[in-house]
Amino acid sequence: MQIALPQLPYPYEALEPFISRRTLEIHHGKHHKAYVDKTKDLATKVRLADQPLEAIIRQTAGQEVHRALFNNAAQAWNHAFYWRSLRPQGGSKPEGELADRIAADFGSHEAFASELAAAATGQFGSGWAWLVSDRDKLRITTTSNADTPLIHGQAPLLTIDVWEHAYYLDYQNRRPDYVAALIEHVLNWDFAAKNLSRARAGAESPGAAGRAPVSTGTSLHLR
Ligand code: FE2
Repeated sequence: MQIALPQLPYPYEALEPFISRRTLEIHHGKHHKAYVDKTKDLATKVRLADQPLEAIIRQTAGQEVHRALFNNAAQAWNHAFYWRSLRPQGGSKPEGELADRIAADFGSHEAFASELAAAATGQFGSGWAWLVSDRDKLRITTTSNADTPLIHGQAPLLTIDVWEHAYYLDYQNRRPDYVAALIEHVLNWDFAAKNLSRARAGAESPGAAGRAPVSTGTSLHLR
């Protein structure tokens, strides 16, 4: 069985005060775990459980009969990608090629940050805001519910989870404050730069880790 809950790449309290330990305990240990467990269950029934999450997602996308499996597999993948999109002492600005690309495609880092905040805040209902590489151009996009750029020919570089379970304990209905805190203090630009390099190299999988264990380079105790 290859599908498993990846470890967080940092301790549960590592993103405080911007995301609380309690939020991460529930978000990772309950929500993400439930998506992974359901994916394993449903994938086993259709003999896809030995496949990587990315393959399951692509094979089930758009197929009504596999809607539940797609939703759970995509949510499992999106969450693994989200954890790695964040880091303690993150935020600030990217450097090097990624900084140049953001300046070229958005005008400035400030314009990029403003556009990302507007997209994440404006996503109606549950979903995700993404920085993606799309045909060699950086774009900000949003997806609803479990939808993921993986099935839209885009290479994700960073994501922000805007489901209420991502922020409600800490921010209640103040999604703009959660989004602003992540952009200013928590985004992992090293991860984004690696994903951009992989996208340019034509890598099949741009950095998320659906299969366990995620290689985080960090040994953590999560329970
Ligand atoms: Fe979530």
